[in-house]
Amino acid sequence: MIEKIENKTAKITIVGMGYIGLPTSIAFAQAGFNVNGYDVNEEVINTLKNGKIHIKEPDLQQAFEKVLNSGKLKPTNKLEKSDVFIICVPTPFIKRDNKKLSDISYVETASKAIAPFVEKDTLVILESTVPPLTTDEVVGKIIEEETKLKLNEDFYLSYCPERVLPGKILYELKNNDRIVGSSSEKAQKITKDLYESILTTGKAYTTDTHTAEMCKLVENSYRDVNIAFANELSIIADKIGINVFELIELANKHPRVNILKPGAGVGGHCLAVDPWFIVEKFPEESSLIRTAREKNDYKPQWIVEKIEKELKEKFPNKEKEIIIGILGLSYKPNIDDLRESPSIEIALTLKEKGYNVVGCEPNVLKEEIKGIKNLSLNEILEKSDYLVLTLAHDEFKQNIDLIMSKEVLNVVGITNKGLN
Ligand SMILES: NC(=O)c1ccc[n+]([C@@H]2O[C@H](COP(=O)([O-])OP(=O)(O)OC[C@H]3O[C@@H](n4cnc5c(N)ncnc54)[C@H](O)[C@@H]3O)[C@@H](O)[C@H]2O)c1
Repeated sequence: MIEKIENKTAKITIVGMGYIGLPTSIAFAQAGFNVNGYDVNEEVINTLKNGKIHIKEPDLQQAFEKVLNSGKLKPTNKLEKSDVFIICVPTPFIKRDNKKLSDISYVETASKAIAPFVEKDTLVILESTVPPLTTDEVVGKIIEEETKLKLNEDFYLSYCPERVLPGKILYELKNNDRIVGSSSEKAQKITKDLYESILTTGKAYTTDTHTAEMCKLVENSYRDVNIAFANELSIIADKIGINVFELIELANKHPRVNILKPGAGVGGHCLAVDPWFIVEKFPEESSLIRTAREKNDYKPQWIVEKIEKELKEKFPNKEKEIIIGILGLSYKPNIDDLRESPSIEIALTLKEKGYNVVGCEPNVLKEEIKGIKNLSLNEILEKSDYLVLTLAHDEFKQNIDLIMSKEVLNVVGITNKGLN
């Protein structure tokens, strides 16, 4: 296998062609490997076969076309024998008994699907974010049971979490350091070699599987806790009538203080989800992580309360007649990803309460997003009586003077000097 990786003759199948799987397939195809991009969603595969990508990500379309036309990347909805399988399927949470618990059913299904194609020396890599122990106890066990092959003797299994930033995925895939975890030293070495073939400035570090699984969860919990601190400050600052952005800017003048910016909450597939995987496994020991999650989850609701209070003051007895425009519906600036988006939660909560709500999400070319009319910036400025600026999209920053000339709740603190 090591030679096959070195001379790029190892055949790779990526399982799941989403935000992670598609760019990963492109990176390995660019490095010279023959890559099968497998997905169960026929619409996704048909779109890709027709030469179009189905996600919004800078430079990805061009890079995709090149590897598709060269034949190095083959989108497919049929699995076949491969030297390497890399699993990049979703791992959302489900709400049960007032708890948020991991849903690893996609990982289980994908493991069962690839099992008939796993042979002696096959390397299986899990990239999906999972609760600790999932790699060996779920993926490894399923493949052992389905194939009768022995883990680390007949086939190899690694965990290699993804830490890319949407909007910069292709760049970060090659430049971020990677963590490679496995219970077998040989698997660590093969997997490290494989990832090094796509890394430019980034390095691959090896460890055991459980440390690698925890590493991904800890990184996102760290960020979530720090954002929760900023969000808590924004609520306290509002209570005493001071500007939280100025407060943080000044506090950060301390040489060892670096407070993050508050916002509309925390969304997306990672920060809003992954800390729950630690809480699920270690409920007694993770009170700080859980509180931070709850604090960030509460922020959109707090903003709704703030909006209602402002509307009462600014539009007495007309609150339900005026039009509220939400500027930004994705979960972070300049991307089209709507998953767990706090802005959507704000828009939908207001709508449920009977307010007239429209939105402006320049990164999603749809007339409606989850039942909210998606207007252009010009249209929303013209139609709305009251605006809620929830995201620092470039288009909003460039037009901040125009936006601020209206009645605005500026949740992200953009000023005409740029983002605070
Ligand atoms: N999006 C990110 O920025 C990001 C960053 C780091 C880690 N992750 C993790 O990576 C994993 C994948 O996330 P994503 O954002 O790419 O998800 P996604 O929803 O964009 O894509 C997942 C794809 O997997 C496909 N799929 C589902 N079940 C399948 C199966 N059994 N076989 C083949 N394909 C299947 C879906 O059709 C979908 O196209 C998740 O665990 C996520 O937490 C995501």
